[in-house]
Amino acid sequence: MKIRVTFLAGTIFAASLLSMTSNAVATTTVDVYKSPTCGCCSKWVDHMRDHGFTVKTHDVGNKDIRKKMGMSNSLGSCHTAVVNGYVMEGHIPAPDIIRFLRERPNALGLAVPDMPHGSPGMEGSRVDPYNVLLVKEPNDTRRDTVIYNRYDPYAKKAATPVPAPAAPAENASVMRLK
Ligand code: CU
Ligand code: CU
Repeated sequence: MKIRVTFLAGTIFAASLLSMTSNAVATTTVDVYKSPTCGCCSKWVDHMRDHGFTVKTHDVGNKDIRKKMGMSNSLGSCHTAVVNGYVMEGHIPAPDIIRFLRERPNALGLAVPDMPHGSPGMEGSRVDPYNVLLVKEPNDTRRDTVIYNRYDPYAKKAATPVPAPAAPAENASVMRLK
């Protein structure tokens, strides 16, 4: 009897944890600092809203906030976001931010420097590999960071299993160069 009760309680607990996670994203406000004319910034804001975030935009550019938050210019991109006290620089995929906010690492935030083709908000015909970098301390430069996640469309292609060549029959004739 006792086992059953414990199991039930565990199930309820797991279920409430799950719903907490999705609600947490919906009620998390992301402050995005960008230029009013930046098209790819607006697309990234849409991407974040599509993933359940509440986004508040500030059309004042991102240089001041980047400096204030301690995000190095060497990791800079077109927009800077602040969420739960962390800094999110550039076109970071929302799932990485969701994972980061769940893990709550002792860090400054995440950065996708520059504006890689194919990142959220930068969709087009060209798709380049890029890294999401974990920035540990204020004013860390690129070499101080570690890779939090990597997106590489070419690696994915290479990973698709290639059918193994049929084993050559014994004594099979082999074409030789003469
Ligand atoms: Cu951009
Ligand atoms: Cu932007």
